[in-house]
Amino acid sequence: MNSFIKFGAVITACAAFLFSAHTETAFAADGDSLQLAPMTPAPLELGRGVNVLGYDPIWNNFEQRRFKAEYFSKIKEAGFDHLRLNIHPFRHQLSADEGYRMKDEWYKTLDWIVDNALRNDLKIILDLHEYNAMSEDPEGNRERFLSFWRQMSDKFTSYSNRVVFELLNEPHNKLDAKLWNVYAKDALAVIREKNPERPVIIGATQWNSINLLHTLELPADDPNILVTVHYYKPMRFTHQGASWVGEELKNTSGVTWGTDEEKAAVVKDFEEARKWGVDNNRIVYLGEFGAYDKAPTESRVTYTDYVCRTCEKMGWSWGYWQFDSDFIVFDVKNDKWVEPILGALIPNSPVLK
Ligand code: BGC
Repeated sequence: MNSFIKFGAVITACAAFLFSAHTETAFAADGDSLQLAPMTPAPLELGRGVNVLGYDPIWNNFEQRRFKAEYFSKIKEAGFDHLRLNIHPFRHQLSADEGYRMKDEWYKTLDWIVDNALRNDLKIILDLHEYNAMSEDPEGNRERFLSFWRQMSDKFTSYSNRVVFELLNEPHNKLDAKLWNVYAKDALAVIREKNPERPVIIGATQWNSINLLHTLELPADDPNILVTVHYYKPMRFTHQGASWVGEELKNTSGVTWGTDEEKAAVVKDFEEARKWGVDNNRIVYLGEFGAYDKAPTESRVTYTDYVCRTCEKMGWSWGYWQFDSDFIVFDVKNDKWVEPILGALIPNSPVLK
């Protein structure tokens, strides 16, 4: 995120994650088909997740990818249940005259990722991560935005609800609450034409802030919407040394975390989101949280563990920020888990020594 104020966000799980009309699915019997056949109804539960591939060279050149095919099974074996795939599609769209159609190469990459996730029993969220473009110039990018969701809606119509759509990561700036409600409504309408029951994740403006949940206008007659929040409070701790959040934090270091007061602040914020979720009958999903690699390791572990456990006590699913690049839980260069962070996320992970 691009501001000092990445307000925390969180979500409320209507206690037991019950999502009435979902259709759980399994692979069709014909072997390599990834069109999923309906099975028994099951609750929508995303469980434990990790953000992936947003900043991987794979999108420009498949051969140069950092993310290896075996990482899907490694992620599953470690105890994760889903991936939140961070997608920046606008630069891979054809021209307006061609309806902003996604390029063929881009589809190949997307297929490789989605197919591998599903084959490894990982649910996958397609998170539209064009939050800067959309927030700086909503009108100029409106057609790209709607075209993207129209294309995803067409492509995934016959896929199971293990493929989840997230309308837009962290709207902010010009996408204020009023405008974001209009854009979200329009995108949802496009999706619902062909995917009437697909789980769709929507968060409030101001970087998916908990504090702005009350501004969200969601259709009361659509039960298949989850509401997301992101949590990086306090920014002085989680973003110390980060270059993208302004001079002050860039030059901050050595900030620790873990006092009783700091822990109480997390509980208070999450309680606010939990209450909102219960009052509004919406499942809450914590889609991003974590502390930058430059923060003191011991405090990063304490923080990650505390946020995660508090989230689980609320009954929410979560997605850690992120697998690779920064805030890492997996060290691609040395091909191994960052064990203290993995242990904070999944204390009983079978891959921990
Ligand atoms: C952004 C990343 C950033 C992270 C934490 C994400 O939503 O896409 O660029 O590192 O938030 O600030």
